Formats: sequence, C-alpha cells, structure tokens
Amino acid sequence: MTLQNLLLAFATFRQRLQPEWYAHVHSHGHATARVARCFAARCARIKHKSSLDEIEFGAHMHDIGKYLVAKEILFKPDVLDEEERLIMSEHPKHGAEILADLPQITPTITDIVLHHHEHWDGSGYPEGLAGHSIPLASRIVAIADVYTALRAHRVYKPEYTRNNASTILREMAGNELDPDLVHDFLRFIGRRAAGERRASLRLHRPPLGLTARRLS
Ligand SMILES: [Fe+2]
Ligand SMILES: [Fe+2]
Repeated sequence: MTLQNLLLAFATFRQRLQPEWYAHVHSHGHATARVARCFAARCARIKHKSSLDEIEFGAHMHDIGKYLVAKEILFKPDVLDEEERLIMSEHPKHGAEILADLPQITPTITDIVLHHHEHWDGSGYPEGLAGHSIPLASRIVAIADVYTALRAHRVYKPEYTRNNASTILREMAGNELDPDLVHDFLRFIGRRAAGERRASLRLHRPPLGLTARRLS
C-alpha cells in the first residue's frame, strides 16, 4: 500500500463517520500539504528530497488528532477558554496515536504530526521543544500550516491577503517559527506570486495583431 492509497482509505473512512471534521481536517490538510511540498522542494536547507512524499503526507495528516476533539470546541466561533484550549492542545498527541496503528508510517511523518505546534522559542506543545531540536520537517509544516490557516476563512477570522499573511509570518519568526525558514518561505511565496502575475499577464495580453489594430 502506498502513502497515497493509505491517505485515500483513511480519508474515505473518516468522511463517512465524521463529515464535519473531515471537511476541516482534510481540506486544510490538503492545502497545507501542497504548500509544504512545493516549499520543501525549493528549499536549499532540505538535503533529502526523497522525504518530500513524507512531508506531503505528514502535512496532509497533521491535524488528524482533531477527529477526537468535540465539535463544540473545534468549531467554536469565540476564543477558547482555558479548559477548551487544553483539550485542543492534545490533538498532536492524538494524531500520533492514530497514526501508530496505520501501516507505512515513518518517523518523519510521526514527527510532523506530533510536533507541528512546537515553537522555536520553546513555548509550544506537546513537548516544549525549542530551536533545532524541533525536527526540520515539523518546522517546515508549521510554517505551511500557519500560512494556509491565515489565507483561509475561519469562523473566528476572515481570509488574510498574501501581504497580510506574510507580515504576520514575519512577526512570528524567531518566537513561534524558525526565522531562517520563514525568510526562505517568504522568498518562495514572493517568487510564486511573481510567477502568477506573469502568467496572468500572458493570459490577458491581446494578440499582437489586435493591439496593432486598436492603436491604428
Ligand atoms: Fe494542529
Ligand atoms: Fe493545522
């Protein structure tokens, strides 16, 4: 069984049991996985490109532990109280426990799921790891996770523009997120935006003959 097949089997199974959780966990997971894989593929700090499949799979599954969080907490439109926050903060551990029962799960995938809420300054959870003691794959997915969440609409917040999301990432660099990776990520986002602008210009540029007729 490949990782892709495993992902499909797991997602289909959960979709039947918990459709509301599925929409949250897998649409966010899918978006995070695309960003994390593209970024990791272009990041010079990642030497072993063979782990791209693991990064993509781990990013897709990073929030599966939320299947064990009550709907009232997961979709609460207000700020969570202390008890609710504690329950929510258990989701990386729950996720790692769910994965432990599945085949094909590598240490990198488990690291991503278990440590995607660790902070660079040690203030995160579940283990309070800091700096480079946080696995690299987890630090990469943490950035993709935050960026994807900022760019999406949530019950408690609007969708942020690319510029606003980039500003927030910059503010988080060095406290929550790895500052060197954020620097690389912002360059990656900038290049991607420039590429999209060029593609859109090409798409909307009138054929040369038409321009000449309009000018004449
Ligand atoms: Fe999470
Ligand atoms: Fe997430």
